[in-house]
Amino acid sequence: MDLLESIQSKPLPKHVAIIMDGNGRWAKQRGKLRTFGHENGAKSVKEVVEASAEMGIENLTLYAFSTENWKRPKLEIQTLMRLLVSSIRKEMASLHKNNIKLTAIGSLNTLPSNVYKELTEVIEKTKNNTRMTLTIALSYGSREELLNTIKEISIKVKNNIISPEKIDESIINEHLYTQDLPDVDLLIRTSGEQRISNFLLWQIAYAELYFTDILWPDFKKLDLYDAIIEYQKRERRFGKTSEQLN
Ligand code: FPP
Repeated sequence: MDLLESIQSKPLPKHVAIIMDGNGRWAKQRGKLRTFGHENGAKSVKEVVEASAEMGIENLTLYAFSTENWKRPKLEIQTLMRLLVSSIRKEMASLHKNNIKLTAIGSLNTLPSNVYKELTEVIEKTKNNTRMTLTIALSYGSREELLNTIKEISIKVKNNIISPEKIDESIINEHLYTQDLPDVDLLIRTSGEQRISNFLLWQIAYAELYFTDILWPDFKKLDLYDAIIEYQKRERRFGKTSEQLN
């Protein structure tokens, strides 16, 4: 049995989320501009998306741009936006051919109009694909998502559409940007930082956390395999005892 088959013979996480960190440091180590790191980070995105679909992961969510990232230098923001548009355009055919559905979460209305247009076209074209859902978090912040959720539910309560006693976890889930996705099973963060950085706070309640020192532009297929193998070794108890699970 080869490595991929051995991974596939055990339960896979249904939803993998990744905080892609370390592009800037990767570039600095090479005496280059941060934007060079992002360009190479985009290559890792392609490889990880393909490897995830090949493995059979049903949902992959990538943190590409946070609400806080708008504070970065203008040139860096422009490069990131340009990379997004060019990657989406370049990969559209391959996403569709591989039966991958693209979606996005975040305050998408704050994106430059060309990014928004390119993104919505691919989302529309790939909406019926079923092999894997690839979600890009763009101008995303988890607290903002939770605030929006609370506001929407409050308005429904005010208009007598929902009664306060009926508010439960599923009602909250239905109002999040991630309403169509299952909870995150495995959260990966590259580059050695051990933080969540306002990413999917509600959705990672029971996720396994995996931190690696590898910088994002160096994170490739075998590194993804390592993370999945580590996940498969862990026992997920969801508050129960080991005996109860057996
Ligand atoms: C973090 O590295 C990375 C980002 C803020 C952007 C991630 C974007 C890409 C990989 C580019 C393309 C994306 C897609 C979806 C095609 P950092 O800049 O914070 O690095 P540092 O911590 O070393 O400074």
